Amino acid sequence: MKSDLTRRAFVRTAAAGSAALAWLGLRRTPTVAAAAADKPALLGGTRIHTGGWPRWPEWRESWEPEILRVLRSGRWSSSGGGGQVADFEAGWAKLLAARGCVATSSGTTALITAMHVLGVDAGDEVITSPFTFIATYNTILMLKALPVFADTDPATLTMDPASIESRITERTRAIVPVHIYGLPCDMDAINAIAKKHNLAVVEDACQAWLAEYKGRKCGTLGDLGCFSFQNSKHIPSGEGGAITGDRAELLDRCQAFHNCGRASGSFQGSGCFSRGSNFRMQHFQASLLLSQFDKLVQETERRRENAAYLSAGLQEIPGVQPLRLPENSRPVWHLYAFRYDPEQFHGLSRDKFCRAMNAEGIPCGGGYREQYHDGLLDEAIASRGFQRLFPAERLKAYRDSFRELRGNRQVCETTLGMFQTLLLAQRSEMDHILAAVRRIQAHSAALAKQA
Ligand SMILES: Cc1ncc(COP(=O)(O)O)c(C=O)c1O
Repeated sequence: MKSDLTRRAFVRTAAAGSAALAWLGLRRTPTVAAAAADKPALLGGTRIHTGGWPRWPEWRESWEPEILRVLRSGRWSSSGGGGQVADFEAGWAKLLAARGCVATSSGTTALITAMHVLGVDAGDEVITSPFTFIATYNTILMLKALPVFADTDPATLTMDPASIESRITERTRAIVPVHIYGLPCDMDAINAIAKKHNLAVVEDACQAWLAEYKGRKCGTLGDLGCFSFQNSKHIPSGEGGAITGDRAELLDRCQAFHNCGRASGSFQGSGCFSRGSNFRMQHFQASLLLSQFDKLVQETERRRENAAYLSAGLQEIPGVQPLRLPENSRPVWHLYAFRYDPEQFHGLSRDKFCRAMNAEGIPCGGGYREQYHDGLLDEAIASRGFQRLFPAERLKAYRDSFRELRGNRQVCETTLGMFQTLLLAQRSEMDHILAAVRRIQAHSAALAKQA
């Protein structure tokens, strides 16, 4: 497995091993972890983890009657209001202690809607994190605005607030912090900068369902927060998204924009009052989501407990380091990520470390690349629209500024991650993960030498 494997490919790979066993009802109980002194599986030793890992997504038979009810009702679209989508909106807002919620067709459409209603427009700039799923970049570009990257703090993997102010120009309209992997950003510092410069804050909480920062849920800390319920997510509905917020007027605008511009809430009676699109969630999706609230709460705790156990164990192993979390915050670990220092593994590359972990039966990958080098932004800024909207010297300076993202480069080169399903396994299986890292550490010289 390549260390830069994508999260979605990761889900498929991690699920594939366990799928056949799970289908047969034979998920094997884990074998006892071999001692670190034994040869790594990559060098011909016995693999540490021979069982599978929890598969994803998971469903329960108890959800089926509700899905059938939607099917038989013939009311599948939420265009008329009410029904499961309205119930989901009320329930999600309550779970997050937000004033309101607007359900959308995806996290992408949630972000587009939220930024639009907060005034992000063609020719604007939006400061965001480069270390994110590519949809964050795309949504800003869809609004014909420029995604300007704050640097990533290698210790936290989130936006470094100290790097924001130098990126603000007279075109900057909003900040989009990303709670990547469910790791809360330092929102007090980000909100303070936004307030000082009169900027909107849209939280990309697409991987941060129930994550907490100083006692409040991520997605309720900025002007608006956006969630994704795509298949790999902790609460999946195939596709789906939501926007949360505390200001009724903003939520009414989101409701209108995502429903073809039809007036909503306090704007009702005024006809079609805004531009808009069809970004509506279906009742099938809402029904699936409503069935999973309790499961999400329980599994979030389980992931947290296992992640804390892993962090305590990794802390003791030279060359791997758990992440630093903002004070009084509770992440939800969409990926369990940690930092890797090849120097302390006799120069063993991150790629090879991953291969050695995979050989031990533990799927592990490198996470996001430096995506600003992938051509997407070059294509965007070379387009007629962007050429018309931004002066050539601004676009050149923008392109050159990627070189300054040293923290992000370090993160892309040194971070490792394991998909959330591993954290749903038993405690003894966390011991397998730690045993594998210890074994690779103990044999790193031999592994590094091996071609
Ligand atoms: C950080 C982040 N932002 C935005 C999105 C977009 O969400 P969706 O795939 O539901 O459109 C995702 C989804 O993977 C994400 O992880």
